[in-house]
Amino acid sequence: MNVRGRFITFEGIDGAGKSSHIEPLAAWLRGRGHHVLVTREPGGTPLAETLRGLVLHQPMDALTESLLVFAARRDHLGQSIQPALDAGTTVLCDRFTDATFAYQGGGRGFDMQTLSQLEAMVHPGLQPDLTLWFDLPAALAAQRRAAARAADRFESESPAFFERVQAGYAARAAAEPRRFKRVDAAPSQAEVWAQVSAAVQAVLR
Ligand code: TYD
Repeated sequence: MNVRGRFITFEGIDGAGKSSHIEPLAAWLRGRGHHVLVTREPGGTPLAETLRGLVLHQPMDALTESLLVFAARRDHLGQSIQPALDAGTTVLCDRFTDATFAYQGGGRGFDMQTLSQLEAMVHPGLQPDLTLWFDLPAALAAQRRAAARAADRFESESPAFFERVQAGYAARAAAEPRRFKRVDAAPSQAEVWAQVSAAVQAVLR
């Protein structure tokens, strides 16, 4: 029987730079003989990608937003993440439930208890083995975003929203220090990569 694969998630406020490290990490792991699935949330299946389009571009309230990201997550887990983990594949996922607590809970101020109930309903007993939290001050992330492409519903939010998202991540990291690895996202890409690869090596040992 296969050993269950590792589930590694990437988190941080928009502009923190997490996405630039996912493909290099996948290549690095493949070079070491791992089977790797790279995926993202909301998204990762045809249905979840359709829901992503709605969440990122259609106006809606925070409960609807929360239900849609969890609906997308349920499909993604059932169709893609869980079968991959069961087959021994390492799954690298760009955002997961911590993003819901940070964005809908922190950013939107939506009820965390309800989010915990949805989490328990959608993935009882499953948590990432490692969550890389790309930590960057909200003001610096805003500068990086300003240089990037057209903003979606989240990226066009106020500085105060991103401060709350940032606080949401900090609270999640403090509550689960074993699962979370804080990556200082401020230095050069090479320095950030050194932190990422060290954290992943530690969990693969
Ligand atoms: P993001 O990883 O930033 O995609 P891209 O790099 O293509 O912009 O994710 C899209 C947005 O979705 C991001 O602004 C955060 C938001 N989001 C939530 O609000 N809740 C969630 O549960 C997830 C997974 C993402």
